[in-house]
Amino acid sequence: MQFSFEQTVRVADALAGSGLGEDISVHGWVRTKRSSKSVTFVELNDGSCMNSLQVIFAEDTMVPAPEIERMQTGASLEVTGKLAESPGGRQTLELQAAHARVLGEAPADRYPLQKKRHSFEYLREIAHLRARTNTFGAIARLRNTLSMAVHRFFQEYGFYYLHTPIITASDAEGAGELFQVTTLPLDELAAEQREIDYAEDFFGRRAYLTVSGQLNAEIYACALERVYTFGPTFRAENSNTSRHLAEFWMIEPEMAFCDLDGNIEIAERFLRALIEAALREATEDMQFFDKRIQPGLIAELERLLAAEFARMTYTEAIDALRRSGRTFEYTPSWGSDLQSEHERYLTEELYNGPVIVTDYPKEIKAFYMKLNDDGKTVRAMDVLVPHLGEIIGGSQREDDLELLKQRIGEAGLDPRAYWWYLDLRRFGSVPHSGFGLGFERVVRYISGMQNIRDVIPFPRAVRSAEF
Ligand code: 4AD
Ligand code: MG
Repeated sequence: MQFSFEQTVRVADALAGSGLGEDISVHGWVRTKRSSKSVTFVELNDGSCMNSLQVIFAEDTMVPAPEIERMQTGASLEVTGKLAESPGGRQTLELQAAHARVLGEAPADRYPLQKKRHSFEYLREIAHLRARTNTFGAIARLRNTLSMAVHRFFQEYGFYYLHTPIITASDAEGAGELFQVTTLPLDELAAEQREIDYAEDFFGRRAYLTVSGQLNAEIYACALERVYTFGPTFRAENSNTSRHLAEFWMIEPEMAFCDLDGNIEIAERFLRALIEAALREATEDMQFFDKRIQPGLIAELERLLAAEFARMTYTEAIDALRRSGRTFEYTPSWGSDLQSEHERYLTEELYNGPVIVTDYPKEIKAFYMKLNDDGKTVRAMDVLVPHLGEIIGGSQREDDLELLKQRIGEAGLDPRAYWWYLDLRRFGSVPHSGFGLGFERVVRYISGMQNIRDVIPFPRAVRSAEF
């Protein structure tokens, strides 16, 4: 058996007419098979696009009948034949199989993915197979398209892609939602009832998985002016919701010589660029989402592209919520965080589109955000979108040494642990800003999927880390 990268034609290319009229070889997995008296049709999918290639086994095929028999849903095949115009039906091209063999069988009595549609809950239990379904194939391709669009966007604006550490000693958000990293023999220590001494741990101190690359990104922004990160992020948030993961990917641009208005401007352009990329480059998959996942999705995204993003301060948002006449589960009051139901009212009812909320009370935001002159609010901004709520969170950073020390103290953190972060304010401090976009949140929003666990290949959430 020989498998050569060059000799195989991907299904997407074949369907686009590459090799039309010639003999080609394709590989893939059987989606469906139907047979009439003399002819068998196999839909072959290789993940290169939504559609499958129709393979025809006509009467004169050289493939033996028992081999065709084994081509059940899920089996992997190699097929060689002539790519030809299809005489009828909705298929435009088809492969007239001359030779074919089954590479790996998928017995129908055991292979879980048969013709019928499975619930997303069930597919989460077979995450090792769900990539072979239309929805998860489309999500994987959309993630790829959006990843490339992320890099393209920032590269065009002169940002440098920065790799920030995954293991860290500091809580970048000050929210205490950290996963600890240790090589200490915890079982032994507990059995012997010994105290844990972190000086003996691998790093000689407590260490964690990062909740954000921001603090490290600030270091490089204060040297290269514009940087961005795009990496895995970990939060031990005990929230079992459709928009939280314990492990997710975040994109965090950081810009020196940039205030909150500049930050908002870039955030808005960035979000638009990603939506445009999805509509333009993942057209077929977007049509699938529009038809099968969220009817009206494309129209909604196009409306978003055409409209201005609404802007309001947190104080205005609270006023609007209080004036709404709605009864919310959590009564909106100045000083408490916006709940999901509040975000939905603002985006889905008040503005019917994205809303950027700025200037939150300092008590409910991270320690690094720049204090406003009122002494009560900070230069924060959250971008909220319909159905989902917060998709981007960012701020102008506190660049005044004394105010920052004070905020760190107020947040109950130890300023000594942040000495290097404070040094940025001691030496060549500059106004700077940045934001974070949750990659899975944006994939969820653009695909119209309901649950964030279905837009990442292998979701990690509370009590769930199987695959
Ligand atoms: O608002 P957050 O917590 O902001 C930060 O982490 C800042 N350091 C960003 C910055 O200014 N550089 O998180 C940013 C975004 C959120 O708006 C949300 O989209 C996403 O990250 N996010 C999550 N996505 C999935 N699961 C979770 N548990 C998430 N927590 C935050
Ligand atoms: Mg936030």
